Amino acid sequence: MKTTTDLALAHIAQLQPYIPGMSIEELARTYNLDPDSIIKLASNENPNGPSPMVSAAITHDLAHSNRYPDGYDLYASLARHYGLETDHFIVGNGSNEILDLIARVFLSAGDNAVSSQYAFFVYSLETQLVGATNKIVPAINYGHDLSKLKEAIDEHTKIVWIANPNNPTGTFIPYPEIHSFLEAVPSDVLVVLDEAYYEYLTPDNKVETQGWVDEFCNLILTRTFSKVYGLAGLRIGYAIANPEIIQLLQRARQPFNVSTAGLLAAQAALSDQDYVKTASHANQAGLAYVTGQLDSMNIPYLPTFGNFVTIELIDVPDVCQKMLQQGIIIRPLPNYAMTHHVRVTVGLQSENEAFIAALREILAITQPKI
Ligand SMILES: Cc1ncc(COP(=O)(O)O)c(C=O)c1O
Repeated sequence: MKTTTDLALAHIAQLQPYIPGMSIEELARTYNLDPDSIIKLASNENPNGPSPMVSAAITHDLAHSNRYPDGYDLYASLARHYGLETDHFIVGNGSNEILDLIARVFLSAGDNAVSSQYAFFVYSLETQLVGATNKIVPAINYGHDLSKLKEAIDEHTKIVWIANPNNPTGTFIPYPEIHSFLEAVPSDVLVVLDEAYYEYLTPDNKVETQGWVDEFCNLILTRTFSKVYGLAGLRIGYAIANPEIIQLLQRARQPFNVSTAGLLAAQAALSDQDYVKTASHANQAGLAYVTGQLDSMNIPYLPTFGNFVTIELIDVPDVCQKMLQQGIIIRPLPNYAMTHHVRVTVGLQSENEAFIAALREILAITQPKI
């Protein structure tokens, strides 16, 4: 007799599920802690929350929650913000939904998608979910090796997934190298350039890649309101690509895939670019503090371009467990087989200090005398 699992499609039954960071609520339930006392540095969220303009925008319209959402205004705002037409955008329930749409529209059994070892786990998950094959290319210094990614493309390749900066490693490929890569990739292979952490890049690294989507008809940029904009809980992200790709993705999405609250929040957040700058500067200061402290403890970490730092530790389960007992959530990386690394999001300065103090205590490294 067949089990229910036998009834499932084999490639789905064999999926390794995505393991998210523990939530504040779950830790509070587990250790009977006050949720307000918990420090969460596990999911690369903006610790300051969204722009104050967001809550005003959402609460204003709560009374109309009986109506289905209308995305017109957000599409118009994105188009204005980027200086492109609205037909270059698709908005999703987080950029994860966009990754899912891309896989469902373009991949099936017999196709393959190329990605890097240590690249954001959702790429390989989405590829497997639709029955396509993952071609995973070894990383170079924990980052993407563009020449190996290019070499891996074969006649069955439909997509190359790239995260820049990458999560969980924080690595970054300078944009001129990505531009050369795009010139070298055949135009019938899609390149998905996931820029979830784009706004955290410093001006010397940033390039306005939205201008590239008319140059490369096979380029899809994905961005999100979950990170610097502080709207992770409202689930809103988007893609920028040429209209032909966008139309195909639009066919596959659910009619009302994003809530009214999410749409209004994103529009308000997008209009407050001063907030984005302030949050990005705060992140740089937080990163400088955390990495400076790690240096002083001689703890290795990967150079990072995001709002998190990935730290090398001898006993990851022990450190994570002791952190949890102290009400601090950091992120082990089982999905990536990075058994000697943890990823720690930059928090508020007080949270960063609490994390460093806990790490010193757990590893028995004393504070240097000033
Ligand atoms: C590289 C990368 N891409 C995409 C996402 C998905 O974000 P969201 O679905 O919240 O937009 C994340 C979230 O952590 C990420 O790190």
